[in-house]
Amino acid sequence: MIRSRCVDVFQAKPDETAIAAEIMGVYRFRTLEPADFEASPLGREKGRATNFAQRMRLGHQAWGYLAPDGTVACYLWLSSPQLGEYQPDFELGLRAKIPSDAAYIWDCRSDPRHERQGLYRHGLVALAREAATIGARSVLIVTRRENHRSRNSILAVGFRQIGTMRLYGFGGLVLVAGRGRLTMAYAGSAVELPGLQNRKRPIQSAQP
Ligand SMILES: CC(C)(COP(=O)(O)OP(=O)(O)OC[C@H]1O[C@@H](n2cnc3c(N)ncnc32)[C@H](O)[C@@H]1OP(=O)(O)O)[C@@H](O)C(=O)NCCC(=O)NCCS
Repeated sequence: MIRSRCVDVFQAKPDETAIAAEIMGVYRFRTLEPADFEASPLGREKGRATNFAQRMRLGHQAWGYLAPDGTVACYLWLSSPQLGEYQPDFELGLRAKIPSDAAYIWDCRSDPRHERQGLYRHGLVALAREAATIGARSVLIVTRRENHRSRNSILAVGFRQIGTMRLYGFGGLVLVAGRGRLTMAYAGSAVELPGLQNRKRPIQSAQP
């Protein structure tokens, strides 16, 4: 059976992201630890707590909002070559190649009990700021074409779309179509995100 995905790639400089509305409710933003996920419905679902502990060991960072009862209300993952060499998960078993001057936000989720409070949007902006503190000059995020809610939020906080990628997986192989090129990738290998390969000059930093 062929599995297909269409994903859009978005990019912003850290200082280009912003949100005007306040978060509704009282939440605490910080890096999340395995224990936070073990103590939360979101983390106990689908074996995430165990999987996430492994991700953290590889250098990926989980950030998010804790609800007043101490459970994870929203989480977002941040990866960058500055944080660790291991490339983050992408689609259909592939991993994403992140440029050395960039950070990547991925695998974000809000607990249904805390949706529509502004946590995801605020989280995107907060992670873009974190990205700047680790030296990233641009921030990337990818979402599936059909995920309108995620897409709306990504655009609303200041990211712009830079590329689209179509993927077709069969067995351990994935056919990748983007920027008019077709490439074949093995599951487990890392692919470049469209919109980045032919960058003529690096994104200029807002910092002197
Ligand atoms: C997509 C998802 C992360 C959004 O989480 P969320 O915390 O509900 O998102 P937000 O509250 O920031 O924004 C959602 C909506 O609430 C609204 N909102 C309500 N109060 C708000 C506030 N105080 N500030 C900002 N937005 C607010 C937003 O306008 C937005 O409206 P829209 O859906 O009509 O565009 C969540 O639905 C989810 O976990 N989905 C499944 C996994 C997924 O799709 N992840 C993203 C993959 S990249």
